[in-house]
Order: sequence, then C-alpha cells, then structure tokens
Amino acid sequence: MREPAAEIERLRDLIDSHNHAYHVLDSPTISDAEFDALFDRLLALEAEHPEQVTSESPTQRIGAAPSERFPSVRHPLPMLSLGKCTTHDELREFDVRIRRLLDTEDDIAYACEPKVDGVAVRLYYESGRLQLGATRGDGETGEDITANVRTLESVPLRLRGRDWPERLEVRGEVYMPRSAFAAFNTAARGAGERELVNPRNGAAGSLRQLDPGVTARRPLKMYCYGIGRIDADWPITSHVASLELLAEWGFRVNPLTRAVTGVDAVIDYVETLLAKRGDLDYDIDGVVIKVDDFTAQDALGVLTRTPRYAIAFKPAAEEALTRVLGVDFQVGRTGAVTPVARLEPVFVGGVTVSNATLHNSDEIARLDLRVGDAVWVRRAGDVIPQVVRVDHEQRPADAHSIEFPDRCPVCGADVLRGEGEVVARCVARRTCPAQLVHGLMHFASRGAMDIHGLGEKVITQLVERELVSDAADLYELDVDTLSGLERMAEKSARNLHAAIAGSKQRPLARVIYALGIREVGEATAAALARHFRSLPALWEADEDSLQEVRDVGPVVAREIAEFFVQDENRALVERLLAAGVEPEPPPAEAAHAPLAEQSWVLTGTLETLTRKEAKARLEALGARVSASVSAQTDCVVAGPGAGQKLTDARRHDVPVLDEAAFLARLEELEA
Ligand code: IVH
Repeated sequence: MREPAAEIERLRDLIDSHNHAYHVLDSPTISDAEFDALFDRLLALEAEHPEQVTSESPTQRIGAAPSERFPSVRHPLPMLSLGKCTTHDELREFDVRIRRLLDTEDDIAYACEPKVDGVAVRLYYESGRLQLGATRGDGETGEDITANVRTLESVPLRLRGRDWPERLEVRGEVYMPRSAFAAFNTAARGAGERELVNPRNGAAGSLRQLDPGVTARRPLKMYCYGIGRIDADWPITSHVASLELLAEWGFRVNPLTRAVTGVDAVIDYVETLLAKRGDLDYDIDGVVIKVDDFTAQDALGVLTRTPRYAIAFKPAAEEALTRVLGVDFQVGRTGAVTPVARLEPVFVGGVTVSNATLHNSDEIARLDLRVGDAVWVRRAGDVIPQVVRVDHEQRPADAHSIEFPDRCPVCGADVLRGEGEVVARCVARRTCPAQLVHGLMHFASRGAMDIHGLGEKVITQLVERELVSDAADLYELDVDTLSGLERMAEKSARNLHAAIAGSKQRPLARVIYALGIREVGEATAAALARHFRSLPALWEADEDSLQEVRDVGPVVAREIAEFFVQDENRALVERLLAAGVEPEPPPAEAAHAPLAEQSWVLTGTLETLTRKEAKARLEALGARVSASVSAQTDCVVAGPGAGQKLTDARRHDVPVLDEAAFLARLEELEA
C-alpha cells in the first residue's frame, strides 16, 4: 500500500484526467460506476487524512459555504466589449479599415469563432492553480464568483500539461447547453419549481447563486476564447495558437474556431456557421472575428472600450412580429391586382418595413389573414417583405376579413380572374391609368429604353394631365410642356427632352423588352431580337415560328402572338417607328456565337462590370445565363462574396473563373 499522501495525489490526477476527458473533450474514458468508485475512494482517504485536503482536490468543487454577497474585483486588464456589424458590406469595411491601418494589401489572417450567448468570465491562475473567477461587471470591476466557477467541471482547478506562465488570465463564456436547459426545465416543471426563462438567463442566474451548492446542480459549461494578459517573453504569436495552448492546459475551446485568410473566407465562415446555428447545443448571438496575429492586434490597438482588431457579426433578425393595419390593392403594368398589407412599422432585416406583399387572394386564404391580425413579417437580403405567418392566438375581437375588390381601385373597370389563374386583373388595358403609369415606368427603365429623369413622379403627372396615353406620345413632348410639370425646372426639362430623344436609338432587344409583352424578359427579348432582327418580322411571326427561338415555349409564344394580334399594340409599334425610334438589330447572328448552347452562372460581386453588363456580354456570345448551378452548367464566374453557388460548382466539377480570367475570356471570344 502506498503512502496515503501519494495515493491521494494519484487518485486526484486520475480523477482530473477522467474529468477532463468527459467534460472538456467530450469523450469519456471510463464508466460512471468506475469513476464513482475512484471518487468515493478519494473522499474516504481525505476523510481519514483531513490535513491532506487542498482546495484543488476534485472533491472540493462543491465544498464552499454560501456567502452573503460577492466581493467586487477590479480587472487588471479591462474586459472589453466588441464593435458590431450586421451586413457583409460592413464586414468588408472592417477588413478595408484593418488593411489600411496595417498598411498592407495582403489578405489578413483572421480567427473566427461562434459568439456564444452566455456570461463572460475571467479566470486567474497562479502557479497553475485557479485563484479567481470573476464576472465581467462593467468591464473595469466585476464580482468574485470563484466558489461558483469552481463547481464547473469544464474549468480546470489545476492546469494540465506544462510550460504555463506563472500567472495566467483566461477569458471565456459560461453558458447553459440547450439540451441541459430543456432537461432542467422539464424536471423543474415536474417538481413544481420555477423554470428558467432561457439558457442565457439560466447561466447568469446560476453563476450568481450565493450558495455554490445550487450552482453545482446547474448544468453549466465554459468555452474559453482568449488569454487576458500576455508576458513580454510569451512565445506564442497568434490568437489561434494561444487557443491551442489553452486546450493543452485543460481548457475547453470551441471546436468550431477557425483560422481563415481574407474577408471572403470570413464571410463563408459566417454564413456556414449561421446556417447550422439551429443544430448547435448552445445559443449564439453572432460570430466573432479577430485579427489573428498578436503583433497586428497590438498595432491596431483599442478604441476606448472596444478593440479595433475584432468585431462581432450579428445579422439583423429576418423575421419580426407586427400588426396588419389595412390592405391596399395595387394595380401593376399587366393589370394584376396585388393586395399589399399596410403594417405597423417594424424593424426587420436591417430596415423599417411598413408594407408587405400578400401576392393574391389564394395567399390571403392560405394565411387565413384578417385586418388587425398579428403577423410575422420576413425580409431577407433585398427580397421584398412577405407575411409568413399569422399568430391566430393574438387575433383581436374586431379583426375583419379582407374583401378582394371586383372593380379596379384605380379606373373602376371589372377585375377578373382567368380560369386556372391565381392572379386577378383589371380588364381595362391601356385606359387604366395605373397600368399606363407602370407600363411607361417599365418602358423608361434601365434595361429597356433607359430614359434618365423619367421616373414614377414625372410619369404620374404626364398621365394625370393626359399629356401621354401611350409610350409613343413621349416622343411628341416638347420642352415647354415638360417644364410646365411640377418641380421641373427649365434645365431638367431640357435634359429630359434630350434623354427621350436619345432613346430613339436602342438595340432591338431593349425595344422588344420595353414593349412589356407578358412573359418576355430581357433574355427572351434578346433571343427574339437575334432571331427576327426587326419589329415587323417579330409581329408577323406565328406561334410555331416563335417556338423555334431558344427559350420560347408554347406559353411565351402565345403571349407574343396575342400581343401583336391587338390593333392597339400594332398601332403603338407603328407610331414608335414613325416617331423615329430606330431599333438596332444585333450584329450579324450565328457568325459569332461561340458560347451557343452553353449555360453560365454569375455569382459574388464583380468589380469592373455590373451583373447586367456581364450577362449581356455573355448573351451576346450566345450563352444562356442562369441563376443556379447544376451538373449542366458549363462555367461559373465567381467574384468576392460567392457562397453556395461556388460550393455547388466545386461539387459538380464545373470550371470556375475569377473576374480577371473572365474578362480575358470575354475579350478573346469577342475579338
Ligand atoms: S472576444 C476583445 N470571443 O461577447 C474581445 N467574446 O461583446 C473580447 N463572447 O462580453 C471578447 N463569445 O462575453 C469574444 N468567442 C468570443 C466570444 C465572446 C462570446 C462575448 C463575451 C463578451 C462579448 C463581447
């Protein structure tokens, strides 16, 4: 039999190792029963030899007596907070700022970590032994919660490994795992006890228990994310390397921490992590991004309370609860009557939203929506806000149902819903002012005739004053008439007049698109222009010959044919031509379509070209530009910020070009 002192020490080492394996590494090395036997043996020996009991013994995690209050402790180095950002653009600005301050063009090495939503804690070790655990408090002064922190199995009482500094400060986040939170509440409910509000409150409340015995029964864990104070002769030069050391010394470090290079990789990390947010066993309230290199961190320094070298990315919530105040019906270019919910303004997806589309009457029925209802509104990216759900439990007694109008709210004509169609339309065509205004807005838009200065306000006035009743009338307007409009100075009137005149020469594809034929978007218009090469040739075409055009199926062919059957549409085209509109046919076909039958995808941001230009140039070479990557895709052009599509391209083995290579290829093919 060994000396009791030696046996006690052996048991403590063993128990510490098994604890570390179980609570830090999540890979138990022995059974619970074996562990309990070791633990009981240590307890018994310590009972026989009380003089051998030290505060680092695993039996002492729970030992401390309740205190009356927590003494306050000053942090030798303040516990900082983080600046935050909510969009990719702001992340890019952060990166630009860092590179400017560091005076480098090179990609920066960043450490990326989940921002665990718990309670910030500082641990202090001397000679490898835990001396203090403190809350963040106001950043300068916190509370001494050492007795409570000692009860967390993921906090080492003694450091493992070797070569730790004599004094060590470690920072991290104490949290309650979601699964443990749920189990705790189930048990509390069963016992008729108070439930915890959420995991974060659970962690904060548990750490601030005056009786450490209560904390010990709460399922808390800690992830360490940094070292507080670094000696001058510290051999480690980067954040990620310091975390690896912390792990060797027995601390729990988040396994999702990554070192990445350049802001695009940061954005990839952020999106990947946020996408699997729901699968994690802890709540996160964002992602923390830190410049990895310590020398660079020092050079960047600290701005009052927040370091310049780090930032928290916290995307704005994409869904929010608000109330429907009323429903308006808007009439679009094709006469489609769209219900739009007027909302109590709400901040969602980074902007204040006060309207959301309800699409059509089927959608209103599907949502079972009434005016006055509480609704969840969603807005992600640049997508228009949508009502996604009604909270029927919050329906007020005076909520009233939504009547879909049977007359156009603008012109009073009948509103009809064609058989098998979901959309209801105002039957008046060019005589409905709403359809006319939207039709003219489309005609003047950038992808169509591109008439600068001809926006909704001006067009509405032109229509209301009956100065214009179709697009051809625009070319009859003189400067005097234009300068008679509200808020139209002489100079603007001249500019607008010149812009209208200047739009007479436009490529045929744009003119076809500008006509606003249903189902004919920019790509179809370009294909029609290449095939028919003039407006008269297009309007003479029957449905069969229309279908010879790539991308034109029976539905599109019927829409085109029906458009040109109507006298008023033919008259419009004739008047446009008579007014001097001279569509330019595309350069001689076939001769140069080296990308014919190819499918290309554009993703990420391009610096020297707009998306539209890139698409137009590809289409001019015969390629089809599509929105998603599949095995049929021939090539992907990926700029910075490319995400899922780039991943898809790799998965399908599709060649990927960056912007420089893409430009080179274009020039080569266009030559
Ligand atoms: S670093 C100098 N890393 O977020 C940077 N903080 O606003 C100091 N947090 O109170 C913090 N996970 O409690 C950092 N991986 C992480 C974090 C993290 C959560 C919390 C921390 C702090 C707050 C910063």
